[in-house]
Amino acid sequence: MKSIVFATNNAHKLAEARAILAGMVEVKSLADIDCHDDIPETAPTLEGNALMKARWINERYGVDCFADDTGLEVDSLGGAPGVRSARYAPGAGHDSAANMKLLLENLLDKKDRNARFITVVAVITDGVEATVEGKCEGIITKEPSGMSGFGYDPVFQPEGESRTFAEMSEAEKNAISHRGEAMRRLAEYLDRM
Ligand code: IMP
Repeated sequence: MKSIVFATNNAHKLAEARAILAGMVEVKSLADIDCHDDIPETAPTLEGNALMKARWINERYGVDCFADDTGLEVDSLGGAPGVRSARYAPGAGHDSAANMKLLLENLLDKKDRNARFITVVAVITDGVEATVEGKCEGIITKEPSGMSGFGYDPVFQPEGESRTFAEMSEAEKNAISHRGEAMRRLAEYLDRM
């Protein structure tokens, strides 16, 4: 079986990708190729960041690989936090609680709470680059609810659901999530190659 490296250090994402791509391709981690680089993601778009990470691995390690980047777009905030989702609250780094707090504060006087998660996956196989995307529409709730998941999950309620992502099991979330969809599109792409 062919192998492909997933340029992430997130164990949850790795397990999800392995489950979706099982039997098709062996998904290796960065640790598997002895990569401990601090891979830059400084592009102004999700696609740019995903490509930047995939190219970093492909050029330095000479392996087929893919990388992802995710953002939360809120309509009444002009698409923010978007590509800055991980670093939305100033100085908070990847502090999810601070990011969620700022998001709820910024939405206090807004009627429109429509939002969507977007994941872009960039893949490089045999030197050929491609990108696939997954999306999940929903709303930002008025307060956090639920304990599972990560990031903005406690304040994101997917369309047609009465629970937030953080109130769902991992399997329930993956079945409808932006990243689940992007991973399934990646599986279709690799299957055609
Ligand atoms: P990344 O591209 O997966 O690193 O995601 C960027 C930021 O978006 C993360 O720091 C999280 O705050 C947020 N994020 C990404 N995916 C999800 C998700 O599935 N649920 C909630 N928040 C997410």
